[in-house]
Amino acid sequence: MKSWSDIGFEIEITGDQSPSLRMLKSLDPAKERGESMHHSGGACEETLLIYGEPIRQVLENIEKPHFLIVGLGLGYIELVIAREALLQGKSSNQVGLITSYESVPELREFFYNWLHGRCENLSAEVVETYEKVLFHVLKGTALHSEALKDFLRQHFLNLGDIHSELSSEVRLESRYHCILYDAFSSKTSPFLWEEEFLARLLREGSADKSLLSTYACKGSLKRALRREGFEVVVRDGFQGKRNSTLGIKNLG
Ligand SMILES: C[S@@+](CC[C@H](N)C(=O)[O-])C[C@H]1O[C@@H](n2cnc3c(N)ncnc32)[C@H](O)[C@@H]1O
Repeated sequence: MKSWSDIGFEIEITGDQSPSLRMLKSLDPAKERGESMHHSGGACEETLLIYGEPIRQVLENIEKPHFLIVGLGLGYIELVIAREALLQGKSSNQVGLITSYESVPELREFFYNWLHGRCENLSAEVVETYEKVLFHVLKGTALHSEALKDFLRQHFLNLGDIHSELSSEVRLESRYHCILYDAFSSKTSPFLWEEEFLARLLREGSADKSLLSTYACKGSLKRALRREGFEVVVRDGFQGKRNSTLGIKNLG
């Protein structure tokens, strides 16, 4: 059974004690260590700050909203969507669509198997990591872990419901009210941060009323957002990290 190191990652416990994954190999020649999926100050806290608030806003304002996540990783964002919906008293079918993209096949398989309780197919280390992620997402709420998992199981009934790599030729299956853009940096995934690609994604993939949130604050992203009719709000980053970006179109 494969564990994180077999698929090119190592676990990193971040400042709020929640786990993240770091790539074993660096794709950036200027950096010795591989890229981490989250801020070292707190994977869960960063997710709640950058993605939690926009998710809440969309759930409050849009009936049956559609969510697009670029970069499933450990699934924090998907779990936070379930958390925020359940905290608003919404059931799984009151969220219209959750579309997640993840290029690493094992990250899709591991998350899917864990969600569906098929832990006999997973290494103990992998199960323990997801349980820790869930523990941190639930912290401070009275929600039950099974309620959160069940919420997402309805959206990821089959493994194929978690999409593979988002390619430059992608044809999205819907228009989305909330785009949670959590790809690796442009050093690791260059085309995902190119202005033309982002502008097309927004043109073809955003609903009339929509938000985009990301931890990044790149010029190409802000230009693409403005071109496609979004107001750009530069937010503080997590724990002094460079600013993050929120794009708003006809909402709030
Ligand atoms: C910053 S991490 C995402 C963290 C994640 N949102 C979480 O909650 O744990 C970026 C993720 O994007 C994935 N990725 C990289 N290129 C991608 C692509 N072209 N399409 C989809 N996913 C990609 C990586 O494998 C990695 O899991």
